[in-house]
Order: sequence, then structure tokens, then C-alpha cells
Amino acid sequence: MTETLGHDRPLDRPIDDVSLDQLRQLVGLVEHDESKDPFPVRAMDAIVFVAGNATQTAWFYQVAFGMRLVAYSGPETGNRDHKSFVLKSGSARFVINGGVAPDSPLHDHHRKHGDGVVDLALEVADVDRCVEHARAQGATILEEPHDVSDEHGTVRRAAIATYGETRHSLVDRSRYQGPYLPGYVEKTSTVPAGKRLFQAVDHCVGNVELGRMDHWVDFYNRVMGFVNMAEFIGDDIATDYSALMSKVVSNGNHRVKFPLNEPAIAKKKSQIDEYLEFYDGAGCQHIALATGDIVATVVAMREAGVEFLDTPDSYYDDPELRARIGEVRVPIEVLKEHRILVDRDEDGYLLQIFTKPIGDRPTVFYELIERHGSLGFGKGNFKALFEAIEREQDRRGNL
Ligand code: FE2
Repeated sequence: MTETLGHDRPLDRPIDDVSLDQLRQLVGLVEHDESKDPFPVRAMDAIVFVAGNATQTAWFYQVAFGMRLVAYSGPETGNRDHKSFVLKSGSARFVINGGVAPDSPLHDHHRKHGDGVVDLALEVADVDRCVEHARAQGATILEEPHDVSDEHGTVRRAAIATYGETRHSLVDRSRYQGPYLPGYVEKTSTVPAGKRLFQAVDHCVGNVELGRMDHWVDFYNRVMGFVNMAEFIGDDIATDYSALMSKVVSNGNHRVKFPLNEPAIAKKKSQIDEYLEFYDGAGCQHIALATGDIVATVVAMREAGVEFLDTPDSYYDDPELRARIGEVRVPIEVLKEHRILVDRDEDGYLLQIFTKPIGDRPTVFYELIERHGSLGFGKGNFKALFEAIEREQDRRGNL
């Protein structure tokens, strides 16, 4: 049987310059029979952001996250409304949009939400089939299937609504050879190329309103054929003060994973409530980036000025931690030096660390993750992680 990630591309074909063996380890792929999938998703196509200043934000991702500028659209290319910078790192693609024209709708979005994710775009083999299924399941179709073309070929695309003002664009670029989408020109970076710091997007987390998590899990199950991977409730993720509930949905082969959080009632304000207040609604909370060498990535990002959540010495000095995790690639002393968290489950282990929010509002942040067999999300670290988040929340006056 030929294993496939999508209808059109066999699994043995490398995706960009990340081999499939690498990808399998990086994000934890599983076998999947697509013929029974009502909404086959091949991969993340792009994570699209609106930023208050796209020019500077694109620079930030190049300098601090080691991403490479590959394409651009803006006034110089005939786009009078906004600037759009396309950045890549391995198989991960970020698109940073910012309004140029004073009446650009992007300014309205930014006024309400601040910097954030507007589109978790998905690469699909058959846009029409996906939209037909989504419509039959009652999804909101924001863009009907249509072709966009330029001299590099044709992209077929559509978009459906998800939580808050977030959307999933559905993109079939199998007949397109350009640098991103029609209308974009190739553009290379003026920032000197450094070492690549991450190879893929592992998962994108959505924060939704109290009582809405199951609604959105059902949406991903029913509309998009996603399967349930894990859930975390009650004692898993309660600290003394704040709490949340979380369920994880993924496409069939686990390449696209969307954890969904909702606040839980606790003594003080949940970190999810803080997000919902400052993002002014549901939205994307964090993006986990898969790296094959988390220590080198953390060192490079720290040197560039990225701030990570702190983990107390007691986490590393706890004899139970050593007993629980056993042998891992990086000695505990090195993990401690860099404040990297470690967790083990029945399938293997993972190393992870979280940045502080990267913008002005306490909303979007990043996770770095190095998987060694584990398909989990670091459940064993939730308590330490959430206590670290609460310390930051408290400093902001939001606990
Ligand atoms: Fe995560």
C-alpha cells in the first residue's frame, strides 16, 4: 500500500527540505486511511497573522525565530491595501499581514484583537469536496471554492469559519509553482541567514469561551473529520488558583493537531480568561514549533532576545522527575540550565519550553517541542507550566 499524506503526494516524497522520516519523528505521524476521510487534510498550508506593523514583525521572525523571507505582496506589487510577508522555516510557513491603506479592514481587526492569528490555512487535495462536506454539516462558508491564477499557475481555494474571527482557508496548490499565492512575488531576506531553528509546526492551540470547548471539538469531528487525540480535565491541569480544560483534535495522520482550551472555574482568573479578555474573544493561543535540537534553538532564540517562561530549580531537583523520565537525550543538568521541561509517556518522551507572550497583549505565545516517540503534549508538566504562567499573570495584575 502506498502511504500518502494527501491524495497527490506519496509519503516518501520529501516536503520542502524536511524529509518525511524527520517529519515523522518531529511531529509524531501515524498511519491513516484517507479513502474513508470525508475531509482529507494534507498539512498546515500557512499560519496567517495580522500585525500592527507587519514590516517589523516580519523582521522579528527572521532575527529571533531564524525564519527566511520567501515572498511578498504590497504597494510595490499592486496591493494598495496591505503588506504581506511570507516566511518559512522547514515545512512551516508564516504569513504576516499589516494594513497600509488607512481604511484597510486589517486595521479594524487589529484594533479589536491586537496582533494575532487570523487564518490557520490547510492544504487539501480537493477543495470542492471539503467545502461540500463542510456545508452539509452546517459550517459557515466564508469563501466559496474559486481559482486564483497568475503566470505561475492556478491555486484553488475556499475558506470556512472556525472559533472567534479565525478561519481555515483550504488551499490546493498542486497546479501552482509560484513562491506562495498568485499576486505574491519572490522576495529574499536582507537579514543574514542563520541556522534554521525549527522544522515544522507541531500544533496550534485555540482558546474558546467557557462552555464552548465541546462545541468546537464536535465541529472538528463532524465538519472536518478530525479525530480526538487526548483530553485534559480536572486534576490534570488545575493549580491552586487557575484552571482550564483541554481536548485535542487532529487530522487522520496527526500532522495537523489542534488542542482546544476553555477556562475552568477556579479561585482566581484562569489564564484562558486573561487571553479571552485581551484578545477580545476566542482565538489562537499558542503555536508549537517542532525542533530536532531544542537546546541549540533555545540558546539562539535567547541570544536574539526572546524571553521564555522560567521553571523553578525545584522542578529539576525533584527525585520523582528523574525516576519518571528515565534516560533522555539531554542531561537533566543541561535541561535545568536552559529551563527546558521534559515529559514521558508510554510511547516515548518529549522536551518542551514556552515563550512569554510575544506581543503587547498577553495573548499569543510559542512553544518549542522536541519529540522522541511521545505523541503527547507534556501533561506531566502542566502544573509547573501553569504555575509559571500564573506568576507572569500576577505580575501583569491579571490574576
Ligand atoms: Fe502546546
